[in-house]
Amino acid sequence: MAIPQVQGFYDERTGSIQYVVADSTTKACAIIDPVLDFDEKSGSVGTGNADAILAFISRRGLVVEWILDTHPHADHFSAARYLKVRTGARTGIGEHVRRVQQIWKDIYNWPDFACDGSQWDRLFADGETFEIGTLQGRVIYSPGHTAASVTYVVGDAAFIHDTLFMPDGGTARADFPGADAGRLWASIQAILALPDKTRLFTGHDYRPGGREARWESTVAEQRRDNPHVAGMDETGFIALREARDRTLPIPKLMLHALQVNIRGGELPPPEDNGRRYLKIPIGALLGSVWG
Ligand SMILES: [Fe+2]
Repeated sequence: MAIPQVQGFYDERTGSIQYVVADSTTKACAIIDPVLDFDEKSGSVGTGNADAILAFISRRGLVVEWILDTHPHADHFSAARYLKVRTGARTGIGEHVRRVQQIWKDIYNWPDFACDGSQWDRLFADGETFEIGTLQGRVIYSPGHTAASVTYVVGDAAFIHDTLFMPDGGTARADFPGADAGRLWASIQAILALPDKTRLFTGHDYRPGGREARWESTVAEQRRDNPHVAGMDETGFIALREARDRTLPIPKLMLHALQVNIRGGELPPPEDNGRRYLKIPIGALLGSVWG
């Protein structure tokens, strides 16, 4: 089995992990889940994370072939658009992003917004493959956390985003619009059906107990050590997940982030004064826990 080189980049602000997965033979690489920095207090956007990835790529002499998102993120802006402009690489996401676009188009009241996924170069269906140099990537549709989530499997590495976190971090929440705890359970089972030694790269780490940030585990470790799956069945998981989700406030950037991420990381168009604005719907997420 191919063993791609994987480099993780941890974003302390959002607890996100961004990845570069590279083919050592051809120097081709893909960037997965890059973060565009945003400070909601000042309305500032920054490219510190994305530029650090570009600097790494340039130091290693890598050529970016793909900029991939695992799903439309609710906690940070995607840097896919920025990195596409900088590298010319193709962007991709799961095809069910169209459903997520439809959900959020209504929430933001954007009647003219195109919910056809045309904001990306490629929409991946379950089981589709793509190339990173001589490496072959495979897409597993992994809904639950969002209706559009996918896992990218490249050789012995799987980029599992917000399904399983590190074993001591449990699993991702399944209560956003379009989310479903039962589907998340099924998606997790499909990931755990990969070979035991598969390297699993998670999308977030919130440093439980204040430990250092970590993001790589294996299927075997997850099966053994993650209390959300070890000795758990579907009914138990759904009950645990739903009880826990009822206590979690909405991520502080969700309403900011979705309007950027359903555009593939492009900020909303400028108004007549040349400035771009974000839109915050009032009362659209009734019943949410106050943070
Ligand atoms: Fe997420």
